[in-house]
Amino acid sequence: MCGIVAYVGRKIAQPLLIEGLKRLEYRGYDSAGIAVIDERGGLHVRRAVGRISVLEESITEHEPLPGAKIGMAHTRWATHGAPTEVNAHPHTDDVGRIAIVHNGIIENYAALKKLLEEKGHKFKSQTDTEALAMLIGDLYEQIKFQNHLPAGTSLLQRAVQAALHEVEGTYGIAVVCKDEPDTLIVARKGSPLIIGVGDDEYVVASDASAIVEHTQQVIYLNDNEMAVLKPDTFRTMTIDDIDVSPVISQLENKLEAYELGDYEHYMLKEIFEQPTAVRNCLRGRAEPREGRIILGGLADNARELVKAKRFILTGQGTAWHAGLVGDYLMEDLAKVVTETTYASEFRYRNPLIEENTVVVAISQSGETADTLAALREAKEKGALALGVVNVVGSTIAREVDGGIYLHAGPEIGVASTKAFTCQCVVLTMLSLFVGRRKFMSQQQCSELIEGLCKIPDQIEQVLKQNDACRDIARHFCERENWLFLGRGYHYPVALEGALKLKEISYIHAEGMPAAEMKHGPIALINDGMPVVFIATQGTQYEKVISNIEEVRARGGKIIAVATEGDKNIRRHSDHIIYVPDTLEPLQPLLSVVPLQLIAYHAAVARGCNVDKPRNLAKSVTVE
Ligand code: AGP
Repeated sequence: MCGIVAYVGRKIAQPLLIEGLKRLEYRGYDSAGIAVIDERGGLHVRRAVGRISVLEESITEHEPLPGAKIGMAHTRWATHGAPTEVNAHPHTDDVGRIAIVHNGIIENYAALKKLLEEKGHKFKSQTDTEALAMLIGDLYEQIKFQNHLPAGTSLLQRAVQAALHEVEGTYGIAVVCKDEPDTLIVARKGSPLIIGVGDDEYVVASDASAIVEHTQQVIYLNDNEMAVLKPDTFRTMTIDDIDVSPVISQLENKLEAYELGDYEHYMLKEIFEQPTAVRNCLRGRAEPREGRIILGGLADNARELVKAKRFILTGQGTAWHAGLVGDYLMEDLAKVVTETTYASEFRYRNPLIEENTVVVAISQSGETADTLAALREAKEKGALALGVVNVVGSTIAREVDGGIYLHAGPEIGVASTKAFTCQCVVLTMLSLFVGRRKFMSQQQCSELIEGLCKIPDQIEQVLKQNDACRDIARHFCERENWLFLGRGYHYPVALEGALKLKEISYIHAEGMPAAEMKHGPIALINDGMPVVFIATQGTQYEKVISNIEEVRARGGKIIAVATEGDKNIRRHSDHIIYVPDTLEPLQPLLSVVPLQLIAYHAAVARGCNVDKPRNLAKSVTVE
């Protein structure tokens, strides 16, 4: 997912822009670039393929940048055009007056490019972004010779507004112009941009991680909005030039939440942050004494939720796995028909949405394109749309009718961990919130809430087995095929364990219901194959033991996640990680943790880039 950082103010922009890009590295990229305008109006652009350090070195070693107090920088995750220096952002118009960085996709760029080439403009790259840069430059020239503009009007602002009316698709852009060296223009449609409001300075970025060290005061731009920023003033308006009153918000997290601290990787930090993350997720929401769940973000929708005839939970990847846990929770605890579907499937299958249907979009980033599209499809068809989201102010969080934030803190590691457990906590609270308003007794609700409130301490117990998980991972890390098996609430956990291993260690792993193995996959079992079973005490424990024996009989090696005190499991397993006992609906919150640790240590043992796995981005904001 591309990243934007832009600055205008009293400081020298370059170091701030480069540091901001490093904060956005986790989003995934394959090239980077920077543009600044010096005080004499010189526009300077530097771009490089590969890591930000390559760009930094090219600047410091070969082509230093002049001191400039306005500029922008970009990390590109290639969509149109290979990851080359020519395709890297920033892009300029062909007279070198305008520079632009862009997140999103200009869907009609080919038509725009053709028109502009017919007017004699010369393109260098294969990107859609260059077409937008060239269009702004072309319109700037046209407007420049019109003489009816009000005094003080920024030609750049007019040119950007005119260009954005010709564009189809999505964008988050920052634009500078050497003829207006004190003006930074930003605009968004479908690709988030946040404006950090400092003292006579503004830091604009794709997400808060690049802003938080400068200011906690931010403005979240909405779709079709833009801002004209100068060192001592700013104006927000629509692209139709209608003033918009800026709403200044306080960032949810401080700088240290984004720091790696003493950990080797963000993923490990976030696994160990889960007790705190769950506590923050529960804070002010779960009242064990009164047996009450308080969800402020649903206050306006409580009656609709109680009347709902069906819930549809949707998301991608780990969020979809959390949705599957939610599926079991809603039917088990709230006694309401629930289905869970991939957002990418839901959005295209013309789903049937009857009256009293609630669609819940689950997304850590709140920017996943498929999940956002599914949400919009559901709203179009009349569903009540809720969000279960971590990033405050994200697009999904802003488009739902109601929602529940995870409050898990920033999740930087590409492999989602604390977001998964907090998504499951939120879905547990949602099922209790609805269940208690339907058939659930006060006592049952209190018992579950009490159990929920013990989870953070119990996760801490599981984390003490980090070394045991590491030893298991090292023992099996050369095996190229693993199976993850679970039943009931642990079927989604098996899927999640397999995904964690796949995406950071590149080992092929498959998760499935334990019973399903006999319907084909058991043919995969060969001598020494690692098979992970979630075999905690529960309604299907004996059946899981039978499945374990079926695997052992064929040479599989059993890695079991079991309940503390279970002595029987020893006879059936080669390796065991114990988790504390809890009520069955809450067990996924504990059984997933050993799987996260095993995946992490397997990736480290295989020398993989744990926080930036190959080919992956933290949030998939394109289809
Ligand atoms: C999970 O570890 C992956 N990084 C990926 O599957 C992720 O869960 C998925 O892309 C959804 O992201 P979201 O929660 O930000 O929408």
